[in-house]
Amino acid sequence: MSHDPACLASTMIPPLSAPLHGVATVPGDKSISHRAVLFAAMAEGTSHLAGVLDSDDVRSSMAAVRQLGAQVSLEKQPDGSLAGSVTGWGVAGPRKPEGAVDCGNSGTTARLLMGVLAPWDVPVEITGDESLSRRPMRRITAPLMKMGVRFLPEGRETLPLTVRGTHGLRALTYDAPMASAQLKTAVLLAGVYAKGTTTVNEPAPSRNHTELMLPEFGVSTTAANCTAGVTGPQGLAACEVHVPGDPSSAAFLVCAAVLKRDSAIQVENVSLNTARIGFTRTLERMGAEVSVQRTGAAGKEPFGTISVCYTANLHGCEVPAEKIASIVDEVPVLALVAAFARGVTVFREVGELRVKETDRLAAVVEGLAHLGVEAYIDGNDLYVEGQPGLAVPEGVTLDSKGDHRLAMTWALAGLTGNTPVCVENFDAVRISYPQFLEDIERLAR
Ligand code: S3P
Repeated sequence: MSHDPACLASTMIPPLSAPLHGVATVPGDKSISHRAVLFAAMAEGTSHLAGVLDSDDVRSSMAAVRQLGAQVSLEKQPDGSLAGSVTGWGVAGPRKPEGAVDCGNSGTTARLLMGVLAPWDVPVEITGDESLSRRPMRRITAPLMKMGVRFLPEGRETLPLTVRGTHGLRALTYDAPMASAQLKTAVLLAGVYAKGTTTVNEPAPSRNHTELMLPEFGVSTTAANCTAGVTGPQGLAACEVHVPGDPSSAAFLVCAAVLKRDSAIQVENVSLNTARIGFTRTLERMGAEVSVQRTGAAGKEPFGTISVCYTANLHGCEVPAEKIASIVDEVPVLALVAAFARGVTVFREVGELRVKETDRLAAVVEGLAHLGVEAYIDGNDLYVEGQPGLAVPEGVTLDSKGDHRLAMTWALAGLTGNTPVCVENFDAVRISYPQFLEDIERLAR
């Protein structure tokens, strides 16, 4: 990669010099890492964490819980992960922080923290960067207010917000308007401390890391298709967590191998949680040769190997609404793959992408248009008209809009094509996958 003066605040991503071959691992799962840090901070005693993702987003969670009184001693390991201990505040509760808790770009930190703080009568102001300050918080504040939590200023729907929890939380049965693991987690975390059973029903199954990890911390949960619950009051007790590789990061290597002629790779030690690896099924439905093999479990989280190779004859497919939650972070890169497939690919009911780090629906349509690909939104459905043999135009600049998943999606257009692509604000990759370029370039040696 290089910084081109004609490509300000941007990174020139040249084509890979060879097909992708061999075995890769990816950094720890972002969702599981956030939860490991936050739950350990809530727990009584000292938890030991390994494989934690070292990225800006997870560091936002680490800084937040430190400010609230947890002792975080996570050190960089030779493999780039973080490992060490977190001593939680347990029954003593969090302390009132000096100043606001800045969650940076991390929606997961901000939204989960609202649930973490719900049982404590400690006012905490939560802030975020420009992108996070635009993202909707009402989806979290509405159910938590029903449980007795106050948010100030009243009626505000975005950060900054001050959370004022209560020792007298009321249990709640909540029919969530969207499939969101952040919403579900915030309500369940509050539910741990409320008297009675708190239940979240969802329109489609969102990722279930919280339901799987809370029992590791000694809190029993119930979970079935589209519903999860916890009966309180309970308390979290320190435990050990080993974080498997992030399937959402692996998706970029996997899609690169599908697009780059003559490639064949395996990504090992990746979380194979079914709520997360929907992208392998979508690629399969597009005709790609991809398979998953379970090799073990970290706590209740299955992990294993994803194997994939270059696919010459991709074809479009339809992804139904109920499957979107399992690919919610992969839609941009899958839309890029769809651009190279024969026929139309439709992603049904992807309206949630409008409220991610940026409006990912608009950004995908705009970026694909720069590549000469017709994509459009009809209602909440995204359509991509694929072009087999598509050649990326010379001198194209694609904008990440400061969004990590878009940065890597547009980088793939350069890496797997025949001409360099300029990606604006490529360094957004530090949010979830700082060593993305090194990892993919290593596979092409
Ligand atoms: C996440 C849930 C998803 C996902 C985000 C991480 C989580 O968001 O897009 O990257 O860790 O719970 P929603 O809860 O908004 O769907």
